[in-house]
Parts: sequence; C-alpha cells; structure tokens
Amino acid sequence: MKGQGMSEQGMGLDIGVLDGEGARQDIPALAAILQDVVANGASVGFMAWNTPADYRAYWAGVAEEVAAGRVLLLAARQAGGIVGTAQLHLIGKPNQPHRAEIAKVLVHSAARRQGIGAALVQKAEALARLHGRSLLVLDTDEASPARRLYARLGWTEVGTIPRYALMPDGGDCASTFFYKELA
Ligand SMILES: CC(C)(COP(=O)(O)OP(=O)(O)OC[C@H]1O[C@@H](n2cnc3c(N)ncnc32)[C@H](O)[C@@H]1OP(=O)(O)O)[C@@H](O)C(=O)NCCC(=O)NCCS
Repeated sequence: MKGQGMSEQGMGLDIGVLDGEGARQDIPALAAILQDVVANGASVGFMAWNTPADYRAYWAGVAEEVAAGRVLLLAARQAGGIVGTAQLHLIGKPNQPHRAEIAKVLVHSAARRQGIGAALVQKAEALARLHGRSLLVLDTDEASPARRLYARLGWTEVGTIPRYALMPDGGDCASTFFYKELA
C-alpha cells in the first residue's frame, strides 16, 4: 500500500512529546481534533452534545496529568499544525510498574490514511520501552478502524465487551481490548 511504513520525515510529519506547558498551549488545537473525531462518530469518551468548552476542559485536565508525569502526550504535526495525538498512561500502582496504557489515539478526519495513526502508536510503544514498560494494554470501539491498526502492529486481541460505552449519538458501543508484550 502506497506510503505505508514511510518515515515521519517522508510524510512531512513530526511527532513530539509535549510537556505540561506545551500541552496547555496546544489545548485549542487538541480540542479541535477531539471535536472533529467526535463529530465524525467515534466513541472516544464524548457525546454529540458535548461543547468546545468540554473538549478544552478535558485537555486542560490532560495537561495537568502530563505536568504531574502520569501521562505522556504525543502531538503529530504536519505543516506546523497538529493533525493527530496519542497518550501513554503510566500506571502508578506499585504492583504494575511494568504496565502502561495507550489511550486517545486521534487523527483528524482530513489527515487519515497516510500512516499517522500507526506512527503515533509506534512512537507511544517506543516511549513505553524508554520508561521501562514491557506490557501495554488498550481498548477501542469494536467498529473503529483502529482495530485493524492495532492488529497490524502486532497487538493481541483479547475480546469484546458489548454495551461498554455509548456512541456520540447515544447508540451502544462495544469495546475491544488488546495487549502487547514489548520485547
Ligand atoms: C483509528 C485512527 C487513529 C487511524 O488513524 P490513521 O492516521 O488513519 O491510521 P493509518 O493511516 O495508520 O491507518 C489507517 C488506514 O490507512 C491505510 N494507509 C496508511 N497509509 C496509507 C497510504 N499512504 N495510502 C493509502 N492507505 C494508507 C492503512 O493501511 C489503514 O488501512 P485499513 O483501514 O484498511 O486498516 C483514526 O481513524 C481515528 O482517529 N479514528 C477515530 C478515533 C479512534 O477510533 N481512535 C482509536 C481509539 S483510542
């Protein structure tokens, strides 16, 4: 498939890790991506009736988690603008020092199918390794294209829980759970 596996450079893509202040500064751009993703029908924690203020408040909370060192936040930029994002949640529990979770892998609808989602997940995996994590878990909407993405990147599908969440329009959303052991 054309372009798959291209380097970030080849795609004109720059994926960076934001610190707390960077995350705060990028709240408007991150909120715009979340709004676009929800408007396009993805089940990512929000409903169709959520407002731009809700999205900004969500990212302000993420920026605090980033500043506290509990969340690592990735921003993918093309031509200077943020087109995608992903999070790595470091699990603070004393009995799970080896585990982390990937969350909120979001690519703007206008920037999809160029490999940005895959690049974000691979970067999050690399960050997890750097932080000494050897086991990653995540869950995604059963019907999301993300399901194929994770399978392609070597994640193991555990199973699907029906009615786990709601779609933005109020319909039922089943969630599929994955894990990946990092070598
Ligand atoms: C899931 C999501 C992150 C994928 O982002 P993306 O940037 O489109 O991902 P990729 O480009 O890496 O892969 C998507 C598809 O494009 C294809 N593709 C990648 N590069 C391509 C290229 N240069 N030319 C043609 N196709 C390409 C991939 O093979 C893949 O195909 P598939 O749908 O048949 O599996 C995006 O659809 C999204 O934000 N969805 C809503 C939110 C969501 O569900 N997030 C996951 C839950 S946390």
